[in-house]
Amino acid sequence: MRIINVKDYEEMSRKAADLIAAQIILNPKSVLGLATGSSPIGTYERLVELNRNGVIDFSHVTTINLDEYYGLDPTHDQSYRYFMNKHLFSRVNINMANTHLPDGKAKDIDAECRRYDDLIESVGGIDLQLLGIGHNGHIGFNEPSDEFIPGTHCVSLSESTINANSRFFKSRDEVPRKAITMGIKAIMQARKVLLIASGEDKKEILKKALFGPITPQVPASILQLHKDLTVITPLDI
Ligand code: F6R
Repeated sequence: MRIINVKDYEEMSRKAADLIAAQIILNPKSVLGLATGSSPIGTYERLVELNRNGVIDFSHVTTINLDEYYGLDPTHDQSYRYFMNKHLFSRVNINMANTHLPDGKAKDIDAECRRYDDLIESVGGIDLQLLGIGHNGHIGFNEPSDEFIPGTHCVSLSESTINANSRFFKSRDEVPRKAITMGIKAIMQARKVLLIASGEDKKEILKKALFGPITPQVPASILQLHKDLTVITPLDI
């Protein structure tokens, strides 16, 4: 594990974007695993800038997002498809057909989960996976549980996640109770993992995940076993 300690959110975002840019320059056909939430917004901002300056070209890049709320239409302003279009896809020269998220409106959830796993396999797996971390240690929406769940699956969101994400909705009642998330296997099989975390409220869980026991009760703790994990954080852990 490599921990890069930075000054603040800005520097974290710049460094994370620079590592992603390096990945794209080394392999223009990279498969990027992407996350939503507050953590990567600055990273996407910087990637947009690098694309506009001609430093990176997204035209052959494929993206696979970690998760999507179950029941939200892609046009819903809190869907993760909407988030990705707004913060990254509509602002760079990516081919929209190469951008993938689970379908939150799928009628047959099991079939949708299988489709997503097959898709990840068909593109040859993920070259670089960008991750944030939840207050309860979740990665993607792999919530604390009694076991690590390998494949894409539908998950009931924990109270802690519903509370944390209610900040984006008009009321807590509007937060979807379920989501479809990539499983631990695709994340762990990513050739590189980049974890970003900032804000004092993430300090304790980040410490626990990186230095505590490896347990499905803290899903991010499994990243300790990843061969190529880079953590970028302004937190003093
Ligand atoms: C979102 C995702 C989540 C977030 C986590 C942290 O696609 O995968 O695991 O990374 O909930 O969210 P923020 O960055 O909003 O604190």
